[in-house]
Amino acid sequence: MEPRLQQRPTRRDRRYGRGVAFGDESLHQLLDPEYFKSEIQRTFQRGEYQPPVLPDAAAEIFELVRRPDVSAKRVVHVIQRDEVLAGNVLQLARSPLFTPSGSAKLVSLNHAVVRLGLRSMRDVVAEVFLRMRVFRVPGYMALMERLRQHSVATAVLARSAGRRSPFGGDFPYLCGLFHDVGVAGMVHVLAARQPKASPELLSVLLSCVDDMHPEIGGMLMAAWGIQADVRLVVQHHHAVAVAGIDHPMAAIVCLAEHAANEAGLGFDSGGDGSPPRDRTARRERNRACATLGWTTSDLDGLIEEAQQLAESGLSDL
Ligand SMILES: [Fe+2]
Ligand SMILES: [Fe+2]
Repeated sequence: MEPRLQQRPTRRDRRYGRGVAFGDESLHQLLDPEYFKSEIQRTFQRGEYQPPVLPDAAAEIFELVRRPDVSAKRVVHVIQRDEVLAGNVLQLARSPLFTPSGSAKLVSLNHAVVRLGLRSMRDVVAEVFLRMRVFRVPGYMALMERLRQHSVATAVLARSAGRRSPFGGDFPYLCGLFHDVGVAGMVHVLAARQPKASPELLSVLLSCVDDMHPEIGGMLMAAWGIQADVRLVVQHHHAVAVAGIDHPMAAIVCLAEHAANEAGLGFDSGGDGSPPRDRTARRERNRACATLGWTTSDLDGLIEEAQQLAESGLSDL
């Protein structure tokens, strides 16, 4: 599939920022998995889907943080231009996801940038965007909340896995956050046609997720202008070779996602006799371990951490 999403809408457009797509078919048709899959593909191929809008301030932060000479003051200034973003960023920066318990409370954005650093602030901004606009689909909130928790868990575990390997770099948390964003894109397209979820619709959706979400995720990342190396990881988090070469960051996210799933933090654990979705084949997981130079006990350690995370109550974060 070639990425072909719509241009940014104007604020006058009633669809502005809502990530909608249009179609015209009966519920009966949509319940046919083959039809459903081809419709999702067609919607993306023909550019009929308008993804949620990335706020200008967030896009600018992503860009700024890549520059070696950017000042904390500049980053704070950009975030403050968007009041809603700024309020949510400070609130999330104070959460245990970014501020260890026992630390002094962050009193301002300035304080947050100095304490957390620019890259963590970029991750906070990304998470606020996903919470506000992407993991929010009325009629599908139960699935979207599970997807949000799974994404946050994968991000936290990817950050930890990055610290335990020589390939951590700057992006593990960001890649973990966005890794399954393609699933959210599929839900947005479905919700524009069928605003209320039903068990039958969800079952059809989930049966198509494994084949489609990495590629759709890559398209969304391109539409938001998020840098190509993060996009590549999103596209390859279930098959870690890129052009025949194993990708260390894809391996980190692959294993983080696996650990989250093993700890019960997947967004779909299966049901009605259907297999759980969003799982990576054992052969590919072994390949990911080999890419990082990990033994079985390294992976077990990450799964143990995922179990502690599950017990800590991610729904409150
Ligand atoms: Fe996942
Ligand atoms: Fe996935």
